[in-house]
Amino acid sequence: MWQMFLLALLLLQLLSGHIEPVDGHKVTARLITNHRYPVEEHTVHTSDDYILTIYRIPASPKRQHLNETMQKKPVVFLQHGIVCSSDDWIINGPDTSLAYMFADAGYDVWLGNARGNTYSRQHKHIHPDQSDFWKFSWHEIGVYDLAAMLDYALAESNSSSLHFVAHSQGTTTYFVLMSSLPWYNEKVRSVHLLAPIAYMRSHGFILSKLGSVLLGSPSFLSWVIGNMEMLPITSIQKFMCEHVCSEGSMLKFLCSGLLDFIGGWGTRHLNHTLLTDVCETHPAGASTTQIIHYMQLYNSGDFRQYDHGREQNEIIYQQATPPSYNVRNIMSCVNMYYSDNDYMSAVEDVEYLATLLPCADLYRIPYKDWNHYDFLWSVNVKEVINNRIIDKMHSYDIEHNMGITF
Ligand SMILES: *[C@@H]1O[C@H](CO)[C@@H](O)[C@H](O)[C@H]1NC(C)=O
Ligand SMILES: *[C@@H]1O[C@H](CO)[C@@H](O)[C@H](O)[C@H]1NC(C)=O
Ligand SMILES: *[C@@H]1O[C@H](CO)[C@@H](O)[C@H](O)[C@H]1NC(C)=O
Repeated sequence: MWQMFLLALLLLQLLSGHIEPVDGHKVTARLITNHRYPVEEHTVHTSDDYILTIYRIPASPKRQHLNETMQKKPVVFLQHGIVCSSDDWIINGPDTSLAYMFADAGYDVWLGNARGNTYSRQHKHIHPDQSDFWKFSWHEIGVYDLAAMLDYALAESNSSSLHFVAHSQGTTTYFVLMSSLPWYNEKVRSVHLLAPIAYMRSHGFILSKLGSVLLGSPSFLSWVIGNMEMLPITSIQKFMCEHVCSEGSMLKFLCSGLLDFIGGWGTRHLNHTLLTDVCETHPAGASTTQIIHYMQLYNSGDFRQYDHGREQNEIIYQQATPPSYNVRNIMSCVNMYYSDNDYMSAVEDVEYLATLLPCADLYRIPYKDWNHYDFLWSVNVKEVINNRIIDKMHSYDIEHNMGITF
């Protein structure tokens, strides 16, 4: 009976897959307001004409007594992972969300949104119904979106540099940008990468093993499947989330099970109260090409640009194979936070990357069961991750004399 019900819901979900996500799914601004923080919505235009919606938390109610309206604050920019969004950094609520903790600590907080997610399904000329809209991977998110968003936040805040924090694919886009357009390194003060992904030599996720057989090198199949919209939030979802993922639901294990399956089995850290919110705001949409590009990394063992097949590569890159990212260009010192039970980011891969980077500072989470999503939604995220990042950023700002009142 329950299984039938769920099957029906899943079918509906699939059938409604191409329903246009409506503004109702854009909850970041509303959530921030509900949490009693000030919020600004900003529109960023990329040089290839995508239109992104990003958010800013310029102040904190907990600092009102400091009367800092005229004071210039250090800027921090947060970038989400694949099929995620700006919501990732705030759904934990006012006490433990990284974005609010930054605002409380005196930072000017910016939350990015990559092209193709709920907040950034817009282009000056191309409609998301056209497959041309979805012709991008995380390479484009790095060199166009991230570049444009960082420049925008710096210009708006009248700052010359900012702190940068990212999770999962957000870290990939950071590596892409900093190795491809190295002058961006000068725009970051400190960098904090959670569950970083670049090389996938030791990556062990079962679906990647299977998927890479079919999609890991250019083929007819990857050509057919590529450049499509993947998993947007749909209208049926809210209902499903409230009934399946809620605290009292007998089927809650399906929601936590899905996160465990992708992020790492057997974690004891996930905050189960968050499941409904996570379900309602994810998956936030992406292009299938982003997944295919990761499958190619898995297959090649290299961190390199998208493989279009020999003929196209010759035209696009003037060589038969895609060029590798030169990670030695990443001059900014990178703090990487990684863990043993993360299916998306293997310990060996992070440590291998660190040997190639000019400057890296590694923090391996001391819990064996810590998984990919615990970096965002664990019950102890505040103690294990957030406080640590804020302390590091503070000491950097003090060292470099960036005035801030604590
Ligand atoms: C806050 O600071 C501004 C400028 O420094 C000043 O004009 C204003 O009176 C101050 N407000 C309070 C409540 O202290
Ligand atoms: C931006 O900063 C510069 C130098 O710190 C200053 O001269 C300028 O007035 C500032 N502009 C705005 C709009 O705050
Ligand atoms: C778990 O999430 C809920 C809902 O946002 C939040 O109120 C609570 O503080 C979180 N628990 C912990 C231990 O962080």
